[in-house]
Amino acid sequence: MSKDKLWGGRFTQPTDKFVEEFTASIDFDKRLYHQDIRGSVAHARMLGKQGIIPLEDVEQIVHGLHSILGQIEAGHFDFSIALEDIHMNIESRLSTAIGEAGKRLHTGRSRNDQVALDIRLYLRDEVVAITTYLDLLIDALLVQAEDNLDTYMPGFTHLQTAQPILFAHHLMAYVEMFKRDKGRLDDSLKRINVLPLGAGALAGTTFPIDREYVAEQLGFPAITRNSLDAVSDRDFALEFLSNASIVMMHLSRFSEELIIWSTSAFQFIELSDGFCTGSSIMPQKKNPDVPELVRGKTGRVYGNLMALLTTMKALPLAYNKDMQEDKEPLFDTIDTVKGCLKIFADMIREMRVNTDSMGRAAGQGFSTATDVADYLVRKGLPFRDAHEVVGKAVAYCVENQMDLSELSLTEWQLFSGRIDRDIFECCTVEASVNARNVPGGTARERVVNEINAVRAGN
Ligand code: ARG
Repeated sequence: MSKDKLWGGRFTQPTDKFVEEFTASIDFDKRLYHQDIRGSVAHARMLGKQGIIPLEDVEQIVHGLHSILGQIEAGHFDFSIALEDIHMNIESRLSTAIGEAGKRLHTGRSRNDQVALDIRLYLRDEVVAITTYLDLLIDALLVQAEDNLDTYMPGFTHLQTAQPILFAHHLMAYVEMFKRDKGRLDDSLKRINVLPLGAGALAGTTFPIDREYVAEQLGFPAITRNSLDAVSDRDFALEFLSNASIVMMHLSRFSEELIIWSTSAFQFIELSDGFCTGSSIMPQKKNPDVPELVRGKTGRVYGNLMALLTTMKALPLAYNKDMQEDKEPLFDTIDTVKGCLKIFADMIREMRVNTDSMGRAAGQGFSTATDVADYLVRKGLPFRDAHEVVGKAVAYCVENQMDLSELSLTEWQLFSGRIDRDIFECCTVEASVNARNVPGGTARERVVNEINAVRAGN
């Protein structure tokens, strides 16, 4: 019945049962209970301090809210769809428990600024949790990189063999990506960590509230500066969904590589059994389910970003019920990204590297052709001409089904008189890698320095 609703005053007819279910958010926003209670305690204390409600009421409210928190955490709280959302479920229970005082809690506040507060409180903790998961993954990568400072692999462009690199260098490329992901999330905290409470429904409040005091209690370094913006803004959630999508994009590229590397054609790595499954028909199969699923889940995380962007598109100021649709994509992305990062860190730690087949592949596909061209440049040939000479040598090898390393000195000299005996030292895989001794290059010394720099927090 309308009479049971906290907002029932102006209604004469009860809400249609299905409308009630359709409009309710309690099934998903109950996960904000802790933030909702924390925010209400701070709000009540502020109301008391400002003399807006009696201090005895504040004591009862705080006590009542803590006991509700206990009930929820013990699983003894019956969430009601008729009470729509977490805010009204808690407030209504408080009033039932303590009467008059409970009904004073919502003074100078609206669910519009309340929900914005709860999401910001929730998201800021989750962002910190996600950066911690990123740290775990970065650490797993550093350990593998340290263990693979003498593992060579073919570096690819167009997924065609390009030049030999250290496997550690390849892993450190992901460290760079995940460090940038962390940087973006850290930076977004500046915009998440702003107190919206005090905006009221949209225009502020007639009561002499102290917003700074609420901000201080809740650990917000700043307060919103425009009440309309405070209740309308979901940029911070979109920014998070976008940052999370970039994390997933990185994870999906890594997943794809792990999947390719563990095929029988490549045999570069082996994922531990715990991260794979078998086939119900083909007895030989060991499928890389975990990276496949992470790659797949990237789709839903991108979808969540598109969903909220589309929900927010063209919404007039200020709050609109459409915005209740912000929570499910947000929660789903938080859960998905955390799960993917956690499982990835464990998977990388346990990944076995097949140094021999990776090293063998590093030397195939004319991977050191550029080194021969560079060799000729050092002997005085302009690079373009050197490129041409090596191209001819490669064509000769293709025709005779051999590798550059198998050419004799006499054969080499067919292509250029500048070639000498020292050609054989310049185009080994190891020489090729270590010759790339520039900042950001794959030479062992550079990679070691990079690992140390990241370990030292740079
Ligand atoms: N459950 C609502 C939401 O998540 C809370 C805010 C409702 N405000 C309102 N005026 N109906 O957006």
